Amino acid sequence: MSQNEKLDAWLSEIEALCQPDAVRWCNGSQEEYDEMIALMVAGGTARKLDESQRSNSYLVWSDPADVARVEDRTYICSEREADAGPTNNWCDPGEMRETLKGLFSGCMKGRTLYVIPFSMGPIGSPIAHIGVQLSDSPYVVANMRIMTRMGQEVLDTLGDGEFVPCLHSVGAPLADGESDVPWPCNADSKYIVHFPETREIWSFGSGYGGNALLGKKCFALRIASVMARDEGWLAEHMLILKLTSPEGVTRYVAAAFPSACGKTNLAMLEPTLEGWKVETIGDDIAWMKFGDDGQLYAINPEAGFFGVAPGTSMRSNRNAMLSLRSNSLFTNCALTPDGDVWWEEMTDELPAELTDWHGDAWTPDSGSNAAHPNARFTAPASQCPVIADEWENPKGVPISAILFGGRRATVVPLVNEARDWQHGTFLGSIISSEKTAAAAGVVGELRRDPMAMLPFCGYNMADYWSHWLEIGERAGAQLPRIYYVNWFRKSAGGDFLWPGFGENGRVLKWVFERCEGTAKAIETPIGNLPAEGELDLTGLDEVSAEDLSELMEVDVAGWLAELPLIREYYEQFGSALPELLLTQLDGMKARLESAEG
Ligand code: OXD
Ligand code: MN
Repeated sequence: MSQNEKLDAWLSEIEALCQPDAVRWCNGSQEEYDEMIALMVAGGTARKLDESQRSNSYLVWSDPADVARVEDRTYICSEREADAGPTNNWCDPGEMRETLKGLFSGCMKGRTLYVIPFSMGPIGSPIAHIGVQLSDSPYVVANMRIMTRMGQEVLDTLGDGEFVPCLHSVGAPLADGESDVPWPCNADSKYIVHFPETREIWSFGSGYGGNALLGKKCFALRIASVMARDEGWLAEHMLILKLTSPEGVTRYVAAAFPSACGKTNLAMLEPTLEGWKVETIGDDIAWMKFGDDGQLYAINPEAGFFGVAPGTSMRSNRNAMLSLRSNSLFTNCALTPDGDVWWEEMTDELPAELTDWHGDAWTPDSGSNAAHPNARFTAPASQCPVIADEWENPKGVPISAILFGGRRATVVPLVNEARDWQHGTFLGSIISSEKTAAAAGVVGELRRDPMAMLPFCGYNMADYWSHWLEIGERAGAQLPRIYYVNWFRKSAGGDFLWPGFGENGRVLKWVFERCEGTAKAIETPIGNLPAEGELDLTGLDEVSAEDLSELMEVDVAGWLAELPLIREYYEQFGSALPELLLTQLDGMKARLESAEG
């Protein structure tokens, strides 16, 4: 029982529907976490890593049928189909409720139902919101304790207030006497369902990541984007970083990139430029609300990192590696003979032998990945060596600049500053990126991922763009500048032109100086690019003058070829598409054509 009638009534209803063997209220304590881990170890779900390699840390292997977010099984069940828009899967809410009732009926038999009260954002922050997840997975309980502020304190703060109900089941009831498998899930039937009007989440059949840790993508993005639309704020798929100049001046930057495009790396960047410092506020999600001074203040609603492991190394992201030294969970990574984890690109040399994420013996000759490409680490944000002091400030941090980016081998230059908020909204709306392993599908294919929100916008993307444009019209707003960046442009020979990682600090410096009003730009048909000599390349010998001009090239023909594809993309939104985006498109076309001469 709680102080919250709605919560108690909902719990009784779900208990009757799902028929768990037991119900347990989670208090968020260390003892409770340890107990969940002990349960997982006893059940063969988790194994302890060698204490001297990685203290208090565990490795879990999932069922091969449950390894990533399932976008084709993710639904936005708004009352009207038009409110979900053409980029979301929609189903009539009444029909979906019937389906879900069938699926959830008796689905927790033989299991315990855990009640997980959690706060997205510092408890009590005016930007934070509370959710309660009901789940039959101890793996979820343990991960939620790292990823959110979870437990009794949240319940106390909630009182009889509003919360987002998040129901989750792995969808694998146990018959009397049936023993459990290490990773229960429902290989044939997965449903990740959102009811935006009633702000509810129902997730069935998967225990993995964003499908199951419902505070993250389901609440903090899909449902929160709807709340943000209704209440005049922004819930975005963005990292938040603190940038400090050699003079000690600080600015905060938010940046949206599609999944597995380096948000965690940018959030924890070690700039190569002398005297510049990056500190982390968040690596995946930003909630931004207007302060009294008209600025957008951002919090990281999460408390941990659920990062993509492959590609992470002391070279690519030292601070992430140091965040994972202890108290971390690893999912679908490989196991070394001395009881540590390993994943592709973690070390320069391949280990001679490993146990791969299927639990099979692996050698470099095996010809397969030892870790799954979407293998993950879950680590407390507080363990990041460069976590900013103010990362838990309930007021949030004022955002000076927003970056949009994607993986593009061609056309898109290293950095491009939007002419104004409307133009920035247009640039955000046309982001496209080569697909990664974070979601099921073909890796490498190009897909449009507006504001990196394609899989995460809880309503019609066209209405979301209208919301962005309305934010720009708010009286007295002191809006961030907007940039479109691309670290991934390649030469004709197929090599990356830009070294990325710590060198991206050079782009951040230019952005910072634009905000300060000290750096120059040239106006081009696509936006404002750094004027000659304004991007600080001190000591960066590996980027030749030729590379730089390719990186900064305004590819007039390439853009002109892309504009009809953007128009075609926009067409699917019909009359919901804000007219202003077409005006932006036409303006860009006219400028490019006159540049073509
Ligand atoms: C994530 C994702 O897990 O974007 O952050 O897929
Ligand atoms: Mn993400």
